[in-house]
Amino acid sequence: MIDQSVGIDALQFYTPPFAIDLATLAQHRGVDPDKFRIGLGQEQMAVMPPDEDVVTMAANAAHPLLEKIEKEKIRLVLFATESSVDQSKAAGLWVHHLLSLPSSCRIVEVKQACYSATCALHLASSYLKEHRDEKVLLIAADNARYGLNSSGEPTQGCGAIAMILSISPRLLSLDPHQGIAASHVMDFWRPNYLSEAVVDGKYSTQVYLNALIESWTDYSSRSNRAFSDHDRFCFHIPFTRMAKKAYERLAKHVQSPSEYERQVAASLLYSRKMGNAYTAALYIGLASLLENDSSDLSNKRVGFFSYGSGAVGEFFSGTVQSNYKEALLATQHARLFERRTLLSHKDYEEFFTYSVPSDGSNHTTPQISPSQFRFLGVKGHERLYG
Ligand code: CAA
Repeated sequence: MIDQSVGIDALQFYTPPFAIDLATLAQHRGVDPDKFRIGLGQEQMAVMPPDEDVVTMAANAAHPLLEKIEKEKIRLVLFATESSVDQSKAAGLWVHHLLSLPSSCRIVEVKQACYSATCALHLASSYLKEHRDEKVLLIAADNARYGLNSSGEPTQGCGAIAMILSISPRLLSLDPHQGIAASHVMDFWRPNYLSEAVVDGKYSTQVYLNALIESWTDYSSRSNRAFSDHDRFCFHIPFTRMAKKAYERLAKHVQSPSEYERQVAASLLYSRKMGNAYTAALYIGLASLLENDSSDLSNKRVGFFSYGSGAVGEFFSGTVQSNYKEALLATQHARLFERRTLLSHKDYEEFFTYSVPSDGSNHTTPQISPSQFRFLGVKGHERLYG
């Protein structure tokens, strides 16, 4: 019998080697640190240095994964982001170049706020059923920016995740049936002329929860699965308290007792230290769950809620594979956190306000990041990486 399972074979995330402790930020903003620590559920926030962007974060995430597979099998690269570096060229083409991927490769960028990686995941799984010998490289990378002194500031962050998708995946096979909820709302968006998002914060949390219930309803009627058919849940994580609220809202909706510690807490450990990574956040949550849950999750079903402002929500599920532990990269991820420098408030603000000239004039970025791939600057309107 042909193995029909398709899903995530490997995943590796990347977070830059700089962060700010939210207690430091709270002190400078004259806010009780418990508002960030307990009210938002955040401890630290990853900060992108001037010589990194979504291309370097993506290449830094994908590089170690690609060393372990036959690159020729990758004929499709999907790059999900809402922090795009060019209006025309897909960020994935720079990554393709930096990682020496084969020339016989389709590359596109996908966008719908924090949701697009999920759409790409499902499109890729249909593609793989037609191209069973191939693998797909799916990357999600973002830099979440709301502005200094804004109410969204403590929910910033950045990061990238690279996933290898395949038939007979080692980590998670996707279940059939998804539930979807789309509506035209202005809860969060970023016009082309702004480098920071415009957000109606409180409203965005309401739209998120409404989309959760609507997509769950669609999912449960299409799949005939009940809440109790899921062992764990992963939610989109703009800040960890939001994911906790989402779980509790769903449990209340289906009249099930809340088992937050058992069903959700392990998925939030990485995001507590990274902040929001927009498109990557849900899948960093999956890495956190698989690498930190103390139970054996083999053959357990995980429910996922993906949310992108504007807004599209999707509820779907997947089943953890039997030998998933052998394919995890927990040690590499722990090292990313260990090597981080906690920035002073002054250095954080300097990194945040650093910008390359918007008229395309030649520019060289200072060398700050010790990571393998760096954004070197701009020459003749061309972004240079090395
Ligand atoms: N100790 C403990 N808790 C405290 C506290 C203290 N000293 N002080 C305040 N709190 C609690 C508050 O009671 C509140 O809890 P509840 O949510 O249970 O009411 C919580 O801390 C937050 O306080 P506020 O609501 O007063 O916070 P705020 O108005 O300053 O900002 C926010 C909160 C609206 C989420 C803001 O951070 C924001 O705009 N963030 C960006 C938008 C966002 O992340 N939206 C999420 C949904 S949209 C999405 O998910 C897509 C995406 O990625 C952006």
